[in-house]
This record gives sequence, structure tokens and C-alpha cells, in this order.
Amino acid sequence: MDRPYIICHMLTSLDGKIIGDYLDEERTAYFIDEYENIHDRYGCKAWICGRITMEENFTLGNKLELEQSNLSSIPRTDYIVQKDASTYAVAVDPTGKLGWTQNYISEGSHNRTEDHIIEVLTEQVSDAYLAYLKNLGISYIFGGKERLNFSVVV
Ligand SMILES: NC(=O)c1ccc[n+]([C@@H]2O[C@H](COP(=O)([O-])OP(=O)(O)OC[C@H]3O[C@@H](n4cnc5c(N)ncnc54)[C@H](OP(=O)(O)O)[C@@H]3O)[C@@H](O)[C@H]2O)c1
Repeated sequence: MDRPYIICHMLTSLDGKIIGDYLDEERTAYFIDEYENIHDRYGCKAWICGRITMEENFTLGNKLELEQSNLSSIPRTDYIVQKDASTYAVAVDPTGKLGWTQNYISEGSHNRTEDHIIEVLTEQVSDAYLAYLKNLGISYIFGGKERLNFSVVV
């Protein structure tokens, strides 16, 4: 089976912190730019982040109020909308919380194309959230019944 080659690409402070106020300092802007440039140089087809990172940077805390009643059950099987996208953004969102408004991410650095979104879910996700993803044309895959198994995900 083909498996993805995964790089852990992190911006860190000199004392090894991956989050913190230093990220908002003016002199860090240059290094954030370099972080994105290095990402571009990898030429990778996909990047993956957790739900909190996606919320902070891309859905900007957009909360969903989905109608839960009168929904027919949606099978817990992978749903792939774009098999031939040039790049993908993979969002680890086990219980289905992210409030996307479109099926791609276009922010980010200069050379980056539109990244088609793939949600990584557990089977605990609601039918309403699956219907919402389908409606937006967002792809999704299941990585476990109650907990994610990353061997399955990759
Ligand atoms: N400096 C850098 O270059 C850089 C880059 C990226 C991220 N970061 C930082 O790195 C940290 C981690 O970010 P991340 O993107 O890897 O992940 P994240 O955004 O923190 O998201 C974690 C995801 O894993 C789920 N989760 C947590 N514990 C779990 C468990 N025991 N079982 C199943 N699912 C679980 C959460 O579920 P729920 O949705 O249910 O909560 C959430 O969806 C963040 O603080 C972020 O700001 C730094």
C-alpha cells in the first residue's frame, strides 16, 4: 500500500516553544514568511493540522448551529469530492466542529494554490455535520469509531 511521506514542519523559538507570544512579535514575521517559503519548497501535495489550529487560523472560530432533526442517517464511509485536486488541506476534527464556509483554503503563502479540504473524522460525528460537509463539497474520511487511529488515517 502507498503511504504518504510525512514531514513535521514546525516553527520554533530558540528555547523550543511552538506556541506563545513570540509568534506575534514584529521580528517573528520574517521567520513566519520563511516557514511558509520552506513549506512551498517541499512541494508537498497536502498539509495536516488539528482542529484548534484550523479554528485559530482558517475558520476563525465560526460556530455552527446545525438542525439535528428530520435527517436521514448518512453511512460512515469515506466521501471523496476531488480526487485530482493539486493540493489538499487535511483537518483533524474527530467530532466535527469546524465551521467551514467553503471547500478549500486559499490563504497562506504566495505560491500556494487552493487546497481542497479533507476532514478527518471519527464515526461519532453527527449526521447533521456530514450533511453540512457534503453540502459544501468538503471531502471526509473516517479514522476510527470513537478515537482516531493514525495508522488508518495515513
Ligand atoms: N509553531 C508551529 O509551527 C505550529 C504549527 C502548527 C500548530 N502549532 C501548535 O501546535 C499545537 C497542536 O496543534 P495541532 O494542529 O497538532 O492540533 P490541535 O489543533 O491542537 O488539534 C488537536 C485535535 O486532536 C483532537 N484530540 C486531542 N486529543 C485527542 C485524543 N486524546 N483523542 C482523539 N482526538 C484528540 C482534538 O479534538 P477536539 O476537536 O474534539 O478537541 C483536536 O481535533 C497547537 O497549540 C498549535 O497552535 C504550532
